[in-house]
Amino acid sequence: MSQLTIALTKGRILQETLPLLAAAGIAPLEDISKSRKLAFETSVDNVRLLILRGSDVPTYVQFGAADMGVSGKDTLLEHGGDGLYSLVDLGIARCKLMTAAIKGVPEKTGRIKVATKYVNVARRFYAEKGRQADIIKLYGAMELAPIMNLADEIVDIVDTGNTLKANGLESRLEIANISSCLIANKASMKMKHKLMQPLIDAITDAVSAKAS
Ligand code: PRP
Repeated sequence: MSQLTIALTKGRILQETLPLLAAAGIAPLEDISKSRKLAFETSVDNVRLLILRGSDVPTYVQFGAADMGVSGKDTLLEHGGDGLYSLVDLGIARCKLMTAAIKGVPEKTGRIKVATKYVNVARRFYAEKGRQADIIKLYGAMELAPIMNLADEIVDIVDTGNTLKANGLESRLEIANISSCLIANKASMKMKHKLMQPLIDAITDAVSAKAS
C-alpha cells in the first residue's frame, strides 16, 4: 500500500491541526511535543507526519516530498503556490498580514524602506499601490526595524496586536486575512486520489462541524 506523507507546521498551527487530523482518524503514535523527532508514524499504518518550519511546508508539498500539508495563507502567498493545490480553508490560526509603522508617525512620501520576511508579498503589495519600496529581508523580530531606523515600515502577521503595541508600533494597511489551509501536491492528487479523498472529506467535515 502506498505511503501518504503529511507535512505539518510546527507551533501554534500544529496544536490547532492535530484535533482536525484526529477527527479524520489520524493520531501520531507518540507525543510530538515531547520528542526531538521530525517524522512520526500515526494510528493509520501508511500515513506519516512531518513536523516542519512553516516556510518549508509548501516546498515539501510542491516537490512531492510530502503529499499533503497544512500551511498558513501568509506562507502560501509568499511561496506563490507552484505545484500545489489549496484544498480546504481550515479556519485555524486566524490573523492578518498587515503593514505597520511607528505609532503616530505620518506616512512617509516617496521611496520607503520595508523590513519583512514576506519579501514577495511586500514587493507585490507596494507595487500594486504604486509605492516605490526597498524591501529588506529579515527572519524575525521585524518590529525592531522601524525603531532602529532600519526601515520605515514592516510587513508582518498581526494577531492580538500586542507585539506591535509593546514596541511602539501601529498597524496601517491590511494586506490579507490569514488562516491555515490544507494543501496537496498536484501529482499526488492524481496518483493517490483514492487514499487522499476520504482524508480530505473527513477533514472538511471536521472543519464544518467546528464552524457550526
Ligand atoms: C508573530 C508575528 C508577530 C506576532 C504577532 O510572530 O511575527 O511578531 O506573532 O502576534 P500578536 O499580534 O498577537 O502580538 P510569532 O510569535 O509567530 O513568531 P515568528 O516571528 O517566528 O513568526
